[in-house]
Amino acid sequence: MQNLPQSTDFEQAYEQFQQRYPEYTTTHSLDELRASEYARLDAQGMVYLDYTGGGLYAESQIQKHMALLKANVFGNPHSSNPSSMFSTHRVEEAREAVLKHFNASPDEYVVIFTSNASGALKLVGESFPFSAQSHYLLTFDNHNSVNGIREFARARGAQVTYIPICLPELRVDESEVDSYLDLIQPGGYNLFAFPAQSNFSGVQHPLEWIEKAHAKGWTVLLDAAAFVPSNNLNLSLWKPDFVPVSFYKMFGYPTGVGCLIARKSALEMLRRPWFAGGTITVASVQGDKYYLAPGEAAFEEGTPNYLDLPAITIGLEYLNSVGMDLIHERVRCLTGWLLEQLVELHDNLGHAGVRIYGPTNTERRGGTITLNFYDGNDQMIDHRAVEQRTNLANISIRTGCFCNPGAGEVALEISQPELITCFAQPTERLTLDDFRVCIHGKNSGAVRISVGIASNFADVYRFMQYVKQLFGRPLD
Ligand SMILES: Cc1ncc(COP(=O)(O)O)c(C=O)c1O
Repeated sequence: MQNLPQSTDFEQAYEQFQQRYPEYTTTHSLDELRASEYARLDAQGMVYLDYTGGGLYAESQIQKHMALLKANVFGNPHSSNPSSMFSTHRVEEAREAVLKHFNASPDEYVVIFTSNASGALKLVGESFPFSAQSHYLLTFDNHNSVNGIREFARARGAQVTYIPICLPELRVDESEVDSYLDLIQPGGYNLFAFPAQSNFSGVQHPLEWIEKAHAKGWTVLLDAAAFVPSNNLNLSLWKPDFVPVSFYKMFGYPTGVGCLIARKSALEMLRRPWFAGGTITVASVQGDKYYLAPGEAAFEEGTPNYLDLPAITIGLEYLNSVGMDLIHERVRCLTGWLLEQLVELHDNLGHAGVRIYGPTNTERRGGTITLNFYDGNDQMIDHRAVEQRTNLANISIRTGCFCNPGAGEVALEISQPELITCFAQPTERLTLDDFRVCIHGKNSGAVRISVGIASNFADVYRFMQYVKQLFGRPLD
Protein backbone atom coordinates (compact mmCIF):
# COMPACT_ATOMS: atom_id res chain seq x y z
CA MET A 1 0.00 0.00 0.00
CA GLN A 2 1.47 3.34 -1.04
CA ASN A 3 1.81 6.69 0.65
CA LEU A 4 0.09 5.90 3.89
CA PRO A 5 1.27 7.29 7.23
CA GLN A 6 3.74 4.95 8.93
CA SER A 7 2.83 5.23 12.63
CA THR A 8 1.85 2.10 14.54
CA ASP A 9 -1.36 3.87 15.60
CA PHE A 10 -2.28 4.33 12.00
CA GLU A 11 -1.40 0.74 11.18
CA GLN A 12 -3.53 -0.52 14.04
CA ALA A 13 -6.46 1.64 12.98
CA TYR A 14 -6.06 0.43 9.39
CA GLU A 15 -5.99 -3.17 10.56
CA GLN A 16 -9.17 -2.68 12.58
CA PHE A 17 -10.84 -0.88 9.70
CA GLN A 18 -10.09 -3.78 7.35
CA GLN A 19 -11.48 -6.26 9.86
CA ARG A 20 -14.63 -4.19 10.19
CA TYR A 21 -14.92 -3.65 6.42
CA PRO A 22 -13.35 -6.76 4.81
CA GLU A 23 -14.86 -5.77 1.42
CA TYR A 24 -12.39 -2.85 1.33
CA THR A 25 -9.61 -5.25 0.32
CA THR A 26 -11.47 -5.95 -2.92
CA THR A 27 -10.94 -2.29 -3.87
CA HIS A 28 -7.13 -2.24 -3.61
CA SER A 29 -6.76 -1.55 -7.33
CA LEU A 30 -7.91 1.96 -6.38
CA ASP A 31 -4.79 2.34 -4.20
CA GLU A 32 -2.70 1.68 -7.29
CA LEU A 33 -4.66 4.33 -9.17
CA ARG A 34 -4.20 6.71 -6.25
CA ALA A 35 -0.44 6.33 -6.72
CA SER A 36 -0.40 6.47 -10.52
CA GLU A 37 -3.38 8.64 -11.53
CA TYR A 38 -3.84 10.89 -8.52
CA ALA A 39 -0.23 11.19 -7.33
CA ARG A 40 -0.67 14.95 -7.01
CA LEU A 41 -2.74 14.44 -3.86
CA ASP A 42 0.07 12.79 -1.92
CA ALA A 43 2.74 14.96 -3.58
CA GLN A 44 0.94 17.96 -2.06
CA GLY A 45 0.08 16.19 1.18
CA MET A 46 -3.54 17.09 0.46
CA VAL A 47 -6.54 15.34 1.98
CA TYR A 48 -9.34 15.92 -0.50
CA LEU A 49 -12.81 15.43 0.98
CA ASP A 50 -15.08 17.41 -1.32
CA TYR A 51 -16.14 14.92 -3.99
CA THR A 52 -19.72 16.15 -3.79
CA GLY A 53 -18.38 19.56 -4.74
CA GLY A 54 -16.21 18.21 -7.56
CA GLY A 55 -14.67 14.88 -8.56
CA LEU A 56 -10.97 14.44 -9.31
CA TYR A 57 -9.59 13.60 -12.75
CA ALA A 58 -7.06 10.87 -13.45
CA GLU A 59 -3.83 11.97 -15.14
CA SER A 60 -4.46 9.59 -18.02
CA GLN A 61 -7.74 11.37 -18.86
CA ILE A 62 -5.82 14.60 -19.43
CA GLN A 63 -3.08 12.88 -21.41
CA LYS A 64 -5.56 11.13 -23.69
CA HIS A 65 -7.51 14.30 -24.26
CA MET A 66 -4.39 16.36 -24.99
CA ALA A 67 -3.10 13.67 -27.38
CA LEU A 68 -6.42 13.77 -29.27
CA LEU A 69 -6.34 17.56 -29.52
CA LYS A 70 -2.68 17.57 -30.61
CA ALA A 71 -3.12 14.96 -33.32
CA ASN A 72 -6.31 16.21 -34.96
CA VAL A 73 -7.92 19.21 -36.60
CA PHE A 74 -11.24 20.05 -34.96
CA GLY A 75 -13.56 22.38 -36.86
CA ASN A 76 -16.91 23.87 -35.86
CA PRO A 77 -19.35 20.97 -36.19
CA HIS A 78 -22.08 23.02 -37.89
CA SER A 79 -20.61 22.24 -41.34
CA SER A 80 -19.69 19.31 -43.55
CA ASN A 81 -15.98 19.90 -44.18
CA PRO A 82 -13.54 17.21 -42.95
CA SER A 83 -12.49 19.05 -39.77
CA SER A 84 -16.14 19.75 -39.01
CA MET A 85 -17.15 16.14 -39.61
CA PHE A 86 -14.32 14.99 -37.36
CA SER A 87 -15.74 17.11 -34.53
CA THR A 88 -19.30 15.97 -35.26
CA HIS A 89 -18.23 12.34 -34.95
CA ARG A 90 -16.47 12.99 -31.63
CA VAL A 91 -19.59 14.78 -30.29
CA GLU A 92 -21.82 11.89 -31.39
CA GLU A 93 -19.38 9.42 -29.82
CA ALA A 94 -19.71 11.29 -26.52
CA ARG A 95 -23.50 11.14 -26.79
CA GLU A 96 -23.37 7.38 -27.37
CA ALA A 97 -20.92 6.93 -24.48
CA VAL A 98 -23.32 8.69 -22.10
CA LEU A 99 -26.27 6.53 -23.18
CA LYS A 100 -24.14 3.40 -22.84
CA HIS A 101 -22.82 4.37 -19.40
CA PHE A 102 -26.35 4.79 -18.08
CA ASN A 103 -27.63 1.74 -19.96
CA ALA A 104 -30.18 3.96 -21.72
CA SER A 105 -31.65 2.75 -24.98
CA PRO A 106 -31.20 5.25 -27.85
CA ASP A 107 -34.75 4.35 -28.85
CA GLU A 108 -35.98 5.69 -25.55
CA TYR A 109 -33.55 8.41 -24.37
CA VAL A 110 -31.61 11.31 -25.86
CA VAL A 111 -28.63 13.17 -24.45
CA ILE A 112 -28.64 16.96 -24.61
CA PHE A 113 -25.28 18.49 -23.79
CA THR A 114 -25.35 21.53 -21.52
CA SER A 115 -22.75 23.46 -19.56
CA ASN A 116 -23.62 21.74 -16.25
CA ALA A 117 -26.49 20.13 -14.32
CA SER A 118 -27.98 23.57 -13.64
CA GLY A 119 -28.04 24.26 -17.39
CA ALA A 120 -29.91 20.97 -17.87
CA LEU A 121 -32.40 21.92 -15.14
CA LYS A 122 -32.98 25.34 -16.68
CA LEU A 123 -33.80 23.72 -20.01
CA VAL A 124 -36.53 21.70 -18.30
CA GLY A 125 -37.81 24.64 -16.24
CA GLU A 126 -38.10 27.11 -19.09
CA SER A 127 -39.58 24.56 -21.52
CA PHE A 128 -41.97 22.58 -19.32
CA PRO A 129 -45.57 23.45 -20.28
CA PHE A 130 -46.57 24.69 -16.82
CA SER A 131 -50.00 26.34 -16.71
CA ALA A 132 -52.70 27.15 -14.16
CA GLN A 133 -53.66 23.47 -14.48
CA SER A 134 -50.19 22.28 -13.45
CA HIS A 135 -48.47 21.26 -10.25
CA TYR A 136 -44.74 21.36 -9.51
CA LEU A 137 -44.06 18.94 -6.65
CA LEU A 138 -40.59 18.68 -5.14
CA THR A 139 -38.86 17.53 -1.99
CA PHE A 140 -37.50 19.99 0.61
CA ASP A 141 -34.20 18.23 -0.04
CA ASN A 142 -33.18 19.66 -3.42
CA HIS A 143 -30.39 21.69 -4.94
CA ASN A 144 -31.23 25.33 -5.64
CA SER A 145 -31.16 24.67 -9.37
CA VAL A 146 -34.17 22.36 -8.85
CA ASN A 147 -35.79 24.82 -6.41
CA GLY A 148 -35.38 27.55 -9.01
CA ILE A 149 -37.72 25.77 -11.44
CA ARG A 150 -40.55 26.86 -9.11
CA GLU A 151 -40.14 30.40 -10.48
CA PHE A 152 -40.90 29.20 -14.03
CA ALA A 153 -43.84 27.19 -12.65
CA ARG A 154 -45.31 30.08 -10.66
CA ALA A 155 -44.87 32.57 -13.49
CA ARG A 156 -47.24 30.40 -15.51
CA GLY A 157 -49.75 29.99 -12.71
CA ALA A 158 -48.81 26.48 -11.60
CA GLN A 159 -49.13 25.37 -8.00
CA VAL A 160 -45.89 24.57 -6.17
CA THR A 161 -45.75 22.10 -3.28
CA TYR A 162 -42.80 20.92 -1.21
CA ILE A 163 -42.75 17.46 0.38
CA PRO A 164 -41.16 17.82 3.84
CA ILE A 165 -38.23 15.79 5.12
CA CYS A 166 -37.93 14.73 8.75
CA LEU A 167 -35.22 14.69 11.37
CA PRO A 168 -33.05 12.90 12.26
CA GLU A 169 -32.39 11.12 8.95
CA LEU A 170 -33.66 13.94 6.72
CA ARG A 171 -35.79 11.53 4.72
CA VAL A 172 -39.34 11.91 3.45
CA ASP A 173 -41.98 10.12 5.52
CA GLU A 174 -42.77 7.29 3.10
CA SER A 175 -46.34 7.01 4.34
CA GLU A 176 -47.01 10.53 3.04
CA VAL A 177 -45.66 10.17 -0.49
CA ASP A 178 -48.89 8.83 -1.99
CA SER A 179 -50.99 11.67 -0.63
CA TYR A 180 -48.57 14.22 -2.13
CA LEU A 181 -48.63 12.42 -5.48
CA ASP A 182 -52.44 12.58 -5.32
CA LEU A 183 -52.14 16.38 -5.64
CA ILE A 184 -51.71 15.91 -9.39
CA GLN A 185 -53.83 18.34 -11.40
CA PRO A 186 -55.88 16.33 -13.87
CA GLY A 187 -55.74 17.61 -17.44
CA GLY A 188 -52.52 19.62 -16.91
CA TYR A 189 -48.80 18.95 -17.09
CA ASN A 190 -47.39 17.99 -13.69
CA LEU A 191 -43.74 17.72 -12.72
CA PHE A 192 -42.28 15.87 -9.71
CA ALA A 193 -38.59 16.49 -8.87
CA PHE A 194 -36.31 14.85 -6.33
CA PRO A 195 -32.61 14.04 -6.01
CA ALA A 196 -31.39 10.44 -6.31
CA GLN A 197 -28.88 11.44 -3.63
CA SER A 198 -28.90 14.50 -1.43
CA ASN A 199 -25.95 16.82 -1.82
CA PHE A 200 -26.60 17.87 1.80
CA SER A 201 -27.09 14.67 3.80
CA GLY A 202 -26.08 11.90 1.39
CA VAL A 203 -29.59 10.39 1.72
CA GLN A 204 -30.58 8.31 -1.28
CA HIS A 205 -34.27 8.83 -1.92
CA PRO A 206 -36.16 5.80 -3.25
CA LEU A 207 -35.96 5.38 -7.02
CA GLU A 208 -39.23 3.44 -6.69
CA TRP A 209 -40.93 6.86 -6.50
CA ILE A 210 -40.35 7.24 -10.25
CA GLU A 211 -42.86 4.56 -11.25
CA LYS A 212 -45.17 5.43 -8.37
CA ALA A 213 -45.35 8.99 -9.74
CA HIS A 214 -45.66 7.84 -13.34
CA ALA A 215 -48.58 5.62 -12.40
CA LYS A 216 -50.41 8.72 -11.16
CA GLY A 217 -49.56 10.73 -14.27
CA TRP A 218 -46.54 12.81 -13.17
CA THR A 219 -43.56 13.61 -15.33
CA VAL A 220 -40.47 12.85 -13.23
CA LEU A 221 -37.24 14.80 -12.94
CA LEU A 222 -34.54 12.82 -11.13
CA ASP A 223 -31.60 15.00 -10.15
CA ALA A 224 -28.71 12.55 -10.41
CA ALA A 225 -25.82 15.03 -10.06
CA ALA A 226 -24.72 13.86 -6.59
CA PHE A 227 -25.63 10.18 -7.12
CA VAL A 228 -23.81 9.19 -10.29
CA PRO A 229 -20.17 9.81 -9.22
CA SER A 230 -20.23 6.66 -7.07
CA ASN A 231 -23.45 4.82 -7.94
CA ASN A 232 -24.74 3.05 -11.01
CA LEU A 233 -27.84 4.61 -12.50
CA ASN A 234 -29.36 2.01 -14.80
CA LEU A 235 -31.87 3.68 -17.11
CA SER A 236 -33.07 0.35 -18.44
CA LEU A 237 -34.43 -0.33 -14.93
CA TRP A 238 -35.42 3.15 -13.78
CA LYS A 239 -37.22 5.39 -16.24
CA PRO A 240 -37.22 9.01 -15.08
CA ASP A 241 -38.19 11.52 -17.75
CA PHE A 242 -35.40 14.03 -17.13
CA VAL A 243 -31.98 13.39 -15.60
CA PRO A 244 -29.52 16.27 -15.15
CA VAL A 245 -25.82 15.45 -14.68
CA SER A 246 -22.54 17.41 -14.33
CA PHE A 247 -19.54 15.48 -15.64
CA TYR A 248 -16.89 17.16 -13.48
CA LYS A 249 -18.64 15.61 -10.47
CA MET A 250 -18.23 12.14 -12.01
CA PHE A 251 -14.63 12.26 -13.21
CA GLY A 252 -13.25 15.72 -12.54
CA TYR A 253 -12.45 16.87 -16.05
CA PRO A 254 -13.56 18.85 -17.90
CA THR A 255 -15.62 21.42 -16.04
CA GLY A 256 -18.24 23.25 -18.08
CA VAL A 257 -19.95 20.16 -19.53
CA GLY A 258 -23.11 18.50 -18.29
CA CYS A 259 -26.13 16.95 -19.88
CA LEU A 260 -29.83 16.42 -19.70
CA ILE A 261 -30.74 12.80 -20.37
CA ALA A 262 -34.34 13.01 -21.51
CA ARG A 263 -36.93 10.44 -22.42
CA LYS A 264 -38.00 11.03 -26.01
CA SER A 265 -41.68 10.94 -25.07
CA ALA A 266 -41.12 13.62 -22.39
CA LEU A 267 -39.01 15.78 -24.68
CA GLU A 268 -41.96 16.06 -27.03
CA MET A 269 -44.02 17.81 -24.37
CA LEU A 270 -41.43 20.59 -23.87
CA ARG A 271 -41.96 24.00 -25.52
CA ARG A 272 -38.84 25.97 -26.30
CA PRO A 273 -39.22 29.64 -25.35
CA TRP A 274 -36.83 30.82 -28.07
CA PHE A 275 -34.54 29.63 -30.83
CA ALA A 276 -30.83 30.01 -31.27
CA GLY A 277 -28.07 29.02 -33.63
CA GLY A 278 -27.97 25.25 -33.93
CA THR A 279 -31.54 24.68 -32.67
CA ILE A 280 -33.47 25.24 -35.91
CA THR A 281 -33.87 23.75 -39.36
CA VAL A 282 -34.88 27.10 -40.86
CA ALA A 283 -35.34 30.61 -39.44
CA SER A 284 -36.22 33.69 -41.44
CA VAL A 285 -36.03 37.41 -40.78
CA GLN A 286 -38.45 38.59 -43.45
CA GLY A 287 -40.62 35.50 -43.22
CA ASP A 288 -40.60 35.99 -39.41
CA LYS A 289 -40.80 32.26 -38.73
CA TYR A 290 -38.58 29.44 -37.55
CA TYR A 291 -38.75 25.68 -37.34
CA LEU A 292 -37.03 23.86 -34.49
CA ALA A 293 -34.71 20.99 -35.30
CA PRO A 294 -35.94 17.57 -34.16
CA GLY A 295 -34.79 15.84 -30.96
CA GLU A 296 -31.85 17.02 -28.88
CA ALA A 297 -30.72 19.55 -31.48
CA ALA A 298 -33.59 21.90 -30.53
CA PHE A 299 -32.05 22.18 -27.06
CA GLU A 300 -28.34 22.54 -27.76
CA GLU A 301 -27.95 26.27 -28.14
CA GLY A 302 -25.11 27.61 -30.25
CA THR A 303 -21.88 25.80 -30.99
CA PRO A 304 -21.45 22.68 -28.86
CA ASN A 305 -18.37 22.44 -26.66
CA TYR A 306 -16.73 20.31 -29.33
CA LEU A 307 -13.21 20.39 -27.91
CA ASP A 308 -14.24 19.25 -24.45
CA LEU A 309 -16.90 16.72 -25.44
CA PRO A 310 -14.35 14.06 -26.48
CA ALA A 311 -13.08 14.22 -22.89
CA ILE A 312 -16.51 12.96 -21.77
CA THR A 313 -16.01 9.77 -23.78
CA ILE A 314 -12.54 9.43 -22.24
CA GLY A 315 -13.83 10.11 -18.71
CA LEU A 316 -16.64 7.57 -19.00
CA GLU A 317 -14.28 4.96 -20.45
CA TYR A 318 -11.99 5.58 -17.51
CA LEU A 319 -14.79 5.20 -14.93
CA ASN A 320 -15.95 2.00 -16.58
CA SER A 321 -12.43 0.58 -16.69
CA VAL A 322 -12.18 1.21 -12.94
CA GLY A 323 -15.70 -0.15 -12.33
CA MET A 324 -18.56 1.75 -10.75
CA ASP A 325 -19.23 -1.11 -8.31
CA LEU A 326 -15.66 -0.88 -7.02
CA ILE A 327 -15.92 2.88 -6.51
CA HIS A 328 -19.25 2.39 -4.78
CA GLU A 329 -17.81 -0.25 -2.44
CA ARG A 330 -14.82 1.88 -1.44
CA VAL A 331 -17.05 4.89 -0.80
CA ARG A 332 -19.37 2.74 1.31
CA CYS A 333 -16.54 1.35 3.48
CA LEU A 334 -14.89 4.73 4.08
CA THR A 335 -18.24 6.42 4.79
CA GLY A 336 -19.20 3.67 7.22
CA TRP A 337 -15.93 4.02 9.14
CA LEU A 338 -16.21 7.81 9.28
CA LEU A 339 -19.77 7.64 10.58
CA GLU A 340 -18.84 5.11 13.25
CA GLN A 341 -15.83 7.13 14.36
CA LEU A 342 -17.82 10.36 14.54
CA VAL A 343 -20.64 8.74 16.51
CA GLU A 344 -18.15 7.07 18.88
CA LEU A 345 -16.31 10.34 19.43
CA HIS A 346 -19.60 12.09 20.14
CA ASP A 347 -20.59 9.41 22.65
CA ASN A 348 -17.21 9.72 24.41
CA LEU A 349 -17.08 13.48 24.53
CA GLY A 350 -19.53 14.19 27.31
CA HIS A 351 -20.52 17.85 26.93
CA ALA A 352 -19.09 18.68 23.53
CA GLY A 353 -20.17 16.85 20.46
CA VAL A 354 -20.61 16.10 16.82
CA ARG A 355 -24.05 16.36 15.29
CA ILE A 356 -24.52 14.49 12.03
CA TYR A 357 -27.39 15.63 9.82
CA GLY A 358 -28.71 12.51 8.14
CA PRO A 359 -28.33 8.76 8.50
CA THR A 360 -25.52 7.53 10.75
CA ASN A 361 -25.13 4.18 9.02
CA THR A 362 -24.54 3.26 5.37
CA GLU A 363 -28.12 2.15 4.65
CA ARG A 364 -29.65 4.01 1.66
CA ARG A 365 -27.07 6.76 1.73
CA GLY A 366 -23.99 7.79 -0.22
CA GLY A 367 -20.57 9.13 0.71
CA THR A 368 -21.58 12.66 1.81
CA ILE A 369 -21.63 13.46 5.52
CA THR A 370 -22.79 16.82 6.85
CA LEU A 371 -22.29 17.78 10.47
CA ASN A 372 -21.55 20.48 13.00
CA PHE A 373 -19.24 20.42 15.98
CA TYR A 374 -20.25 21.66 19.44
CA ASP A 375 -17.90 22.88 22.15
CA GLY A 376 -18.03 22.00 25.86
CA ASN A 377 -20.71 24.69 26.46
CA ASP A 378 -22.93 23.10 23.83
CA GLN A 379 -22.24 26.03 21.49
CA MET A 380 -21.94 25.23 17.81
CA ILE A 381 -18.42 25.80 16.49
CA ASP A 382 -18.90 28.07 13.48
CA HIS A 383 -18.38 26.13 10.26
CA ARG A 384 -16.21 28.96 8.92
CA ALA A 385 -13.83 28.54 11.87
CA VAL A 386 -13.73 24.80 11.23
CA GLU A 387 -12.82 25.38 7.59
CA GLN A 388 -10.07 27.84 8.52
CA ARG A 389 -8.50 25.15 10.68
CA THR A 390 -8.88 22.34 8.15
CA ASN A 391 -7.28 24.67 5.58
CA LEU A 392 -4.22 24.91 7.80
CA ALA A 393 -4.10 21.11 7.93
CA ASN A 394 -4.27 20.98 4.09
CA ILE A 395 -7.64 19.22 4.25
CA SER A 396 -10.19 20.25 1.61
CA ILE A 397 -13.74 20.11 2.95
CA ARG A 398 -16.87 22.09 2.16
CA THR A 399 -18.76 24.35 4.54
CA GLY A 400 -21.88 26.50 4.21
CA CYS A 401 -25.35 25.40 3.11
CA PHE A 402 -24.34 23.69 -0.16
CA CYS A 403 -27.08 25.32 -2.28
CA ASN A 404 -29.65 23.10 -0.56
CA PRO A 405 -31.62 25.46 1.69
CA GLY A 406 -34.54 23.08 2.29
CA ALA A 407 -32.41 20.34 3.85
CA GLY A 408 -30.37 22.97 5.71
CA GLU A 409 -33.43 24.64 7.23
CA VAL A 410 -34.75 21.31 8.52
CA ALA A 411 -31.33 20.13 9.74
CA LEU A 412 -30.60 23.39 11.55
CA GLU A 413 -34.18 23.70 12.79
CA ILE A 414 -34.84 27.11 11.29
CA SER A 415 -38.61 27.45 11.26
CA GLN A 416 -40.95 28.82 8.60
CA PRO A 417 -42.12 31.77 10.81
CA GLU A 418 -38.49 32.78 11.39
CA LEU A 419 -37.77 32.66 7.67
CA ILE A 420 -40.94 34.54 6.75
CA THR A 421 -39.96 37.30 9.21
CA CYS A 422 -36.49 37.55 7.66
CA PHE A 423 -37.78 37.72 4.11
CA ALA A 424 -40.45 40.29 5.05
CA GLN A 425 -37.77 42.87 5.86
CA PRO A 426 -38.06 46.05 3.79
CA THR A 427 -34.77 45.57 2.03
CA GLU A 428 -33.96 45.15 -1.61
CA ARG A 429 -31.59 42.27 -1.02
CA LEU A 430 -30.71 40.20 2.03
CA THR A 431 -27.00 39.39 2.13
CA LEU A 432 -25.85 36.16 3.73
CA ASP A 433 -24.54 38.20 6.67
CA ASP A 434 -27.89 40.01 7.08
CA PHE A 435 -29.55 36.62 6.98
CA ARG A 436 -27.26 35.29 9.69
CA VAL A 437 -28.11 38.26 11.89
CA CYS A 438 -31.80 37.77 11.19
CA ILE A 439 -31.83 34.17 12.40
CA HIS A 440 -29.47 35.10 15.23
CA GLY A 441 -28.64 32.43 17.70
CA LYS A 442 -28.82 29.88 14.89
CA ASN A 443 -26.12 28.83 12.54
CA SER A 444 -27.03 28.84 8.87
CA GLY A 445 -24.41 26.38 7.72
CA ALA A 446 -22.57 23.17 8.38
CA VAL A 447 -19.47 21.18 7.53
CA ARG A 448 -19.60 18.69 4.68
CA ILE A 449 -17.14 15.91 3.98
CA SER A 450 -17.44 13.58 1.03
CA VAL A 451 -15.39 10.70 -0.32
CA GLY A 452 -14.93 9.44 -3.86
CA ILE A 453 -12.92 7.60 -6.42
CA ALA A 454 -9.43 8.55 -5.16
CA SER A 455 -10.17 8.46 -1.42
CA ASN A 456 -8.24 6.07 0.80
CA PHE A 457 -8.15 5.13 4.46
CA ALA A 458 -5.33 7.59 5.17
CA ASP A 459 -7.58 10.49 4.08
CA VAL A 460 -10.40 9.66 6.45
CA TYR A 461 -7.92 8.77 9.23
CA ARG A 462 -6.26 12.18 8.90
CA PHE A 463 -9.63 13.88 9.01
CA MET A 464 -10.53 12.05 12.21
CA GLN A 465 -7.15 12.98 13.74
CA TYR A 466 -8.00 16.59 12.95
CA VAL A 467 -11.43 16.26 14.59
CA LYS A 468 -9.91 14.76 17.72
CA GLN A 469 -7.45 17.64 17.91
CA LEU A 470 -10.35 20.07 17.59
CA PHE A 471 -11.73 18.66 20.81
CA GLY A 472 -8.33 18.50 22.49
CA ARG A 473 -8.63 14.75 22.62
CA PRO A 474 -5.58 12.54 22.83
CA LEU A 475 -4.87 11.12 19.40
CA ASP A 476 -4.77 7.33 18.88
C1 LIG B 1 -27.70 17.32 -6.35
C2 LIG B 1 -27.15 18.44 -7.20
N1 LIG B 1 -27.91 18.93 -8.19
C3 LIG B 1 -27.48 19.92 -8.99
C4 LIG B 1 -26.24 20.47 -8.81
C5 LIG B 1 -25.80 21.58 -9.72
O1 LIG B 1 -24.66 21.21 -10.39
P1 LIG B 1 -23.84 22.33 -11.20
O2 LIG B 1 -23.40 23.33 -10.17
O3 LIG B 1 -22.70 21.56 -11.78
O4 LIG B 1 -24.74 22.90 -12.20
C6 LIG B 1 -25.42 20.01 -7.78
C7 LIG B 1 -24.11 20.62 -7.52
O5 LIG B 1 -23.55 20.55 -6.46
C8 LIG B 1 -25.88 18.96 -6.97
O6 LIG B 1 -25.14 18.45 -5.98
